[in-house]
Order: sequence, then structure tokens, then C-alpha cells
Amino acid sequence: MSGCPFLGRKYPLFTSKPSQAEEEDESQKGINKAMKGGIVYGEYLQLDKVLSAQVLQSQEKGNKIHDEHLFIVTHQAYELWFKQILWELDSVRDLFIKNHVRDERNMLKVVSRIHRITMIFKLLVEQFAVLETMTALDFFDFREYLSPASGFQSLQFRLLEAKIGVADHLRVPYNRRHYRDSFHGQESETLMSSEQEPTLLQLVEQWLERTPGLEKEGFNFWGKLQANIEEGLKMEKHKVEVRPAFFSDHNDFFHSVFSEMLLCSRFAHCFDLQKMEDSEVKEDLLADRNKQTEVFTALFDPKRHEHLLSKGERRLSYKALQGALMINFYREEPRFQVPFQLLTALMEIDTLMTKWRYNHVCMVHRMIGSKAGTGGSSGYQYLRSTVSDRYKVFVDLFNLATFLVPRAWVPKLNPNIHKFPYMAEFYDSSYSSYSSEDSD
Ligand code: HEM
Repeated sequence: MSGCPFLGRKYPLFTSKPSQAEEEDESQKGINKAMKGGIVYGEYLQLDKVLSAQVLQSQEKGNKIHDEHLFIVTHQAYELWFKQILWELDSVRDLFIKNHVRDERNMLKVVSRIHRITMIFKLLVEQFAVLETMTALDFFDFREYLSPASGFQSLQFRLLEAKIGVADHLRVPYNRRHYRDSFHGQESETLMSSEQEPTLLQLVEQWLERTPGLEKEGFNFWGKLQANIEEGLKMEKHKVEVRPAFFSDHNDFFHSVFSEMLLCSRFAHCFDLQKMEDSEVKEDLLADRNKQTEVFTALFDPKRHEHLLSKGERRLSYKALQGALMINFYREEPRFQVPFQLLTALMEIDTLMTKWRYNHVCMVHRMIGSKAGTGGSSGYQYLRSTVSDRYKVFVDLFNLATFLVPRAWVPKLNPNIHKFPYMAEFYDSSYSSYSSEDSD
């Protein structure tokens, strides 16, 4: 039997009087509410406005080009999704700004909305494929009609970047000018005022700085971690005892096996690098070990952190970085599970924005080669330079993986002492009622 209800119908369509079979048909038992008045689909969605907003410039100029319709619809779809992302982003920033995240039950809302943003971005990354069904020649046919309009002038895209926290001083200049110079009047004002608001990065930073367990007089995570790592590195140097003679050979197989074993902490105690005969293997292993020591020495040096901040290689404050690392190490603790999900979703936003830039620039290369953009930039060359870590807002979260240590080095939590209560329980009772941005 067909799955189509019309093919398998038991009575003719459009008869005036329902037959008995029709009356018994469950699929026909609704009520036509729209016939009784009230707002209907087209009105609710204001489709008269939305669907009449596709004005082909080629047609206006008397030379209608078929593919311009797809070009316009694609851009409009992107702008609508940008609008939804901004809607979610503003609500999340609001939850942080009004400190609703102090009641951690609100964190689930934050994570769900950030997750929603990532889902939309996934769609946006893929959506270029539809526009790519247009050939470069088809685009060439109407490109002249849209100049000097360009995606570069998308206000919503700039708001999105600014609100997430793309740093002004890290941006690639646009023909040696600031991108804001391309905006005028109301748009320019909107941009300037959005730049005065706290960015998602700053808000997450403040939240991370309050990670319970960082307090020196409390769990003192950072102090304990430093002590454990120093001890661990020292042990690696001294507790190694036995070394089979054949490991000093210049043998690629043993080189790789030995390196693997050293990387695995279970075997680290079997060998003493200092006592090993000089060889390339020894040099490599010593270099690895020194590098590891350097990485951790730098991690515990606040001045080094400040230096990296000034170069834009780190974006979070020193304390926030400590909070982020703590959440990573204790992600399995109930208290840190949702925060860990948030950090993961924030990295996802950066990853997807980079993918968006990459897919966009690949499409641009295919459509216009190395011609200048309609907005006036060098086009492909300019866009290629924006696919870079300079635009990664949560770059520190990616780099946390550099500082992972064997589980044995992670300071132990004593569940009786370190309960890390929910903030809702922790703060005064005047705040303890469940709060959400909707209740304001
Ligand atoms: C045939 C398709 C497209 C071509 C050839 C194209 C070309 C370009 C070029 C050359 C630029 C650099 C600025 C300039 O000189 O004009 C640019 C920037 C931009 N385009 Fe597109 N674009 C296309 C589709 C899209 C779509 C569908 C969107 C979606 C909204 C978009 C959004 C942007 C944005 C946001 C920028 C600024 C990027 C930045 O400065 O980091 N473009 N585009």
C-alpha cells in the first residue's frame, strides 16, 4: 500500500456532503480554525515583506539574470540566521551581565543557547554549497549590477564578531583602514555602542575567575597543581633506574618504542636518561623533557602570561585561565560538568567561525579568482588573511591541552571537604530563588 494518503483514499476529494467513510476518517477530524478569524500564517510571518524583498538589480536594469535570485535569497537567509545568533548571544550575555549565572541552574540555559548558536553555525558553514551551484560565469553576468555592495558591509556580521569578542587590535586592516570606516550614520553608531558593551569573552572570563576551588585559603588549586607538577617533573628525572643496553643503539625501531614508553608514565620509572650513553635518542628525549619543563615553568609565571596577553597570544586573564584548567581537570565532578560543556561549546563557536571564513574564501576564489572585491578589497587575498588564529576568541581554551598532565599529578579532591556547593545554595537567601532573565 502506498504511504501517500491521497493515493490510498477511500472517498473522492471535494464532495460537498461527507460520506460515512469520511466521517470516520481520523485524519479529517480537525477544525479549520483559520476560517474563524485571527492571525494567519502569512500575516504572522509578515511574508508580504519577506517575499517581496528579492529585487534583482539585473532585472531593474532591464537584463534579468536568473541566478541573481539565488544570490539574494542566500544572503538574506544568512542575515536572518545572523539575527537569530545575535538574539541568542544577547540573551546569554544578559544572563552573565545580570549575574543570573550566580544561580548555576541558569547555566544550563546558557549552555543550551550557546549550543543552539553552534547548530546554526553548522548550517551556515554548509549553506555555501547551495550558492556554489552557481558558476563563476553566471555570477559574472550580474556582478557589475551589485557593486559597490559587499558582504563586508554586513552590520550583523560585525556585531556578531564584536559581541563574541574578536579583538580590535588583532583584526586584519581593510585597505589599511579600520573596518568601521565602511559604516556610516546609524549603523556606525550601533557598532560603536556594541563595542562598549561587555563581550562574551569578558563575561566568560569574569565567570571563570570565580571558579570555586581557586581560593588560596581554600582548595588552592593553582598552588597545589604547581607543587604536584614540580614534584612530578623532579621524579621523572630521578626515580629512573634501569636501562637495557640496547636502547642506546641508533635504532629507529627502539627509538620509537622507547619514546612511546617514556611518554607513558607507567614506564617512566624504568629508565635513567642521565645515565644513558650519548646518542640521538638521548638528545631527542632530553629535548622533549626540557620542553615539557619549559612549558610548565611558563604556565606558572604570571609575567609570562602578561607578555603573551600583550601579544594577543592569550586572551583570558591569568586567574580565568586557572579556572578553565581546573574545570578541564575536574570535568567529571558533577559541579564541573555543565561548565565543561560550556567551554567545549565556546571552542566550537571559534572552530565553526573559522570554517565559515574558510568556506567563504574558497567560494570567493572560485567565483572571482584574484579579482578585487565589489567592496574594494583585494578580495581573495584579504579574505585568506582572515582565516587565522587572530580571530579565535577562545584561543586559550584550545591551548589548555598543552597543559594536560598525568591524572596522578592532578590535586586530589577530598569529597568531604571540597563539596563545591551550587552557588544558589552558597549565596544569601535573598538570592536563592530561581532567577531567569525572563523574570526581570
Ligand atoms: C558569490 C558569492 C560571494 C562572493 C564572490 C563574495 C565575495 C566577497 C569578497 C571579495 C569580500 C571581501 C570584501 C570586498 O572587497 O568585497 C567578501 C566579504 C564578506 N562576505 Fe562575501 N562573497 C560572496 C558570498 C557571501 C555570502 C553568501 C555571505 C553571507 C552573508 C557573505 C558575507 C561576507 C562577509 C561577512 C564578508 C566580510 C568578511 C570579513 O571582512 O572578514 N559573502 N565577500
